[in-house]
Amino acid sequence: MALDGVVVATSNPGKLREVRAILADLEARLLALDAFAPLRFPEEGDDYEQNAAAKARTCAQATGCLSLADDSGLEVEALGGRPGVRSARYGGPDLDDAARVARLLEELSGVAAEKRAARFVCVAALAHPDGRVVTARGSCEGRILGAPRGSAGFGYDPVFLAAGTGLSMAELPESEKNRLSHRARAFRALRGRIDAALTG
Ligand code: IMP
Repeated sequence: MALDGVVVATSNPGKLREVRAILADLEARLLALDAFAPLRFPEEGDDYEQNAAAKARTCAQATGCLSLADDSGLEVEALGGRPGVRSARYGGPDLDDAARVARLLEELSGVAAEKRAARFVCVAALAHPDGRVVTARGSCEGRILGAPRGSAGFGYDPVFLAAGTGLSMAELPESEKNRLSHRARAFRALRGRIDAALTG
């Protein structure tokens, strides 16, 4: 089977841009979800693998194309790993990225720099239209800053100091985030399965 398009099942333009950059040399076009009729995704649960698989499978079955999705989150040690898989829902449905960041900083106020360790986690999923799904996980270590820095990226990037860089994720050049990020590691780990699905 030779398919020339793989759908990226996300409505987050930041994620789509990153997945396209991470898989820039793929032998297939990466198609945006908005090229298709609107899809209803299942409610998100408390497991990265299950959430990523459900998004990719829903998309593959609806579009008839190989589909990629991810589920990601920010795990903060001082908060016992929260918000974690619930990062998109942190603070409730009415908050935007900036308000979630402000809430996180508020929750961590008074926590010393050396106790603000955190990691981004991403599970990438590849689904075939017949329902088969494979997943791969990646993570990226860092710590939560006292105030936002930088304007690139999305979500919690301005308050995440990426280990070994001295820069927030929102200060890193795009190419650098796409080399060391949780998403880059997850999609690179899935890469062999994507190539095999395209040629198999
Ligand atoms: P989901 O994967 O769409 O459920 O999103 C998880 C949450 O973590 C959202 O609030 C995202 O904005 C945030 N998030 C996921 N990946 C990143 C990232 O690379 N940088 C900053 N925030 C992220």
